[in-house]
Amino acid sequence: MHIDILSAVPRLLDSWFSESILQRAQQKGLAEVKIHDLRNWSTDKHRRLDDYPFGGGAGMVMTIEPIHRAITELKGQRVVDEVIYMSPDGILLEQGLANTLSIKNNMIILCGHYKGVDERVRTHLITREISIGNYVLSGGELAAAVLSDAVIRLLPGVLGDETSALSDSFQDGLVAPPDYTRPAEYQGWKVPDVLLSGHQAKIDEWRHDQALERTKERRPGLLG
Ligand code: ADE
Repeated sequence: MHIDILSAVPRLLDSWFSESILQRAQQKGLAEVKIHDLRNWSTDKHRRLDDYPFGGGAGMVMTIEPIHRAITELKGQRVVDEVIYMSPDGILLEQGLANTLSIKNNMIILCGHYKGVDERVRTHLITREISIGNYVLSGGELAAAVLSDAVIRLLPGVLGDETSALSDSFQDGLVAPPDYTRPAEYQGWKVPDVLLSGHQAKIDEWRHDQALERTKERRPGLLG
């Protein structure tokens, strides 16, 4: 999978993709993430990306031209499956959407800033708008990092244990059951006996019951 991220503040994203699972995914050649400075496509002598909104009002708006030039250039390099705009009023990112995007080959992710982008970007250049939650961030970079992480960890071979992404919370519509590790008893706090029993069918049943119980308690909306 190849992801191009377009940002007005690319430094915000560098460290995120040079650590841990995301770095390993790139070293293994399973994912390639390129972070681009949108200013490289600005024709303004001060490399500006924003301008005043027509009709007045507070805040600046990202102009269409550098965004269009960037997307056009990147589309010339490979077949792009999705051009995603991170925006608080996009559709909410959930596991099902991450699964859907994980089978795409090439994506461009555009990070908004200031008041947002000229509406014509959204109408003509974007295939999806995605929000990571009902709150407003100061830019789309964190949201782009969240989306990329949620998608890249699903690519086959990225996680060490092939089954571990499948046992994530939400993959089966339930939150994950509790996990324990050694010691089996700490200051009198014990690990449930069943997990030490070695009886796999019973362990699986216990985990499923726990997941169901937790979902009812914490996220009843998931049960429909
Ligand atoms: N940009 C600003 N806030 C955002 C959010 N909640 N989700 C996605 N992109 C954003």
